[in-house]
Amino acid sequence: MKYEFPKGFLWGASTSAHQVEGGTNNDWGEWEKENASDLANEAEHKFGRLPNWKDIKAEATEPQNYISGIASDHFNRYKEDFKLAGELGHNATRLSIEWSRIEPEEGVFDEEAILHYKDVIKTCNELGLEPFVTLWHWTLPLWLRDKGGLQYKYFAQCFGRYAAKITGELKHGVKFWITLNEPFSVMQNSYLAGKWPPQKRNPFVFWKMYKILAKAHNTAYESIKKTDPKSEIGLSSIMNFFEAHGQRSPLDKWIVKIADYFHNQKLLNLTSGKNDFIAINYYFHDRLRLPGFQANTNKKVSDMNWELYPEGLYHIIKKFSGYKLPIYITEHGLADAKDEKRAWYITESLKKMHRAMAEGADVRGYLHWSLMDNFEWDKGFWPRFGLIEIDRKTLERKIRPSAYIYKKIIKDNGIIE
Ligand code: BGC
Repeated sequence: MKYEFPKGFLWGASTSAHQVEGGTNNDWGEWEKENASDLANEAEHKFGRLPNWKDIKAEATEPQNYISGIASDHFNRYKEDFKLAGELGHNATRLSIEWSRIEPEEGVFDEEAILHYKDVIKTCNELGLEPFVTLWHWTLPLWLRDKGGLQYKYFAQCFGRYAAKITGELKHGVKFWITLNEPFSVMQNSYLAGKWPPQKRNPFVFWKMYKILAKAHNTAYESIKKTDPKSEIGLSSIMNFFEAHGQRSPLDKWIVKIADYFHNQKLLNLTSGKNDFIAINYYFHDRLRLPGFQANTNKKVSDMNWELYPEGLYHIIKKFSGYKLPIYITEHGLADAKDEKRAWYITESLKKMHRAMAEGADVRGYLHWSLMDNFEWDKGFWPRFGLIEIDRKTLERKIRPSAYIYKKIIKDNGIIE
């Protein structure tokens, strides 16, 4: 049996600047320094019940784990890293631009930082990696944080100006732009749960964020199109597969509709007409029940106890193929330090993706999260998402076995069983 993918399908992996580059100077970095000790102290309470607690305990209870610092030193080693991606057969890659490097002061662009990213893109182009470039993967320059961050009255204008500058500089090597990464994750974690910077727990602000972030995307879309009409622009959304626990329960079905609308669709609707493709990040399956909410069976889980549910990818793709736009999977992956489940998860998920495509979905690329181990935000370094393992002491790169299974799939442009 061969699950064959269309010719020219894009295969690769994703990263984000703050998580891999190292040496960034932004709102997250400052927040990490202020919160590292607390995060380390809370680790046992948060992660103590994970089955792998004994393996992660030393790292998770160490404040240094929560400071991105040098990260994976990708800022200095991008050539080596992209070369490895090329050797693994990838023909695409997703990376992000660190806004705080480009515009360290309001309205002042750093030419050296721009030259750096020009070389990053040139490297990708030379290696045959089609770059998908994200403009905002959650971090903000300090001047913008001080003005109120996402709540700054002129946030959208600032973002549009930065977007125009970067696209103007990099357009010769980049076709695919992603304005925002997972706006909903930020809305939820920063403004509803109050876990991430700026740690506001305010449902009104959360609600306003729909408009704020949609406006930022729409403004950036306009300015990118003006700079480069041929560009393809999208916004990466975290799409959860919600399903009713009681298939015949009207209450469960109702809560699924609500969750699906506010989590998966509302931002796409608010940016309608300003998306050239749908960019899906798929991690979560939520079987919902009322009352009680979650009723997942969690048969297979990652190191972070996130359910691994390949089937969900099929349903998400089917749902969003309704938008009649090309689809790219811009993230999908798992924390799996021992690399025991990654190959299985990739293979099974790709089969589900294939099924959706066989039924007509226009999926054109898959980018695994992540190319390499990185800094997993408020969890720090202990979750290992990489196809490439990074030794935290020496920063040495080592290809995980699952990356070779993925390489074979790419080489065959399909799965042969
Ligand atoms: C984010 C990444 C993150 C990954 C795993 C996505 O929500 O875009 O930055 O590392 O999930 O949590």
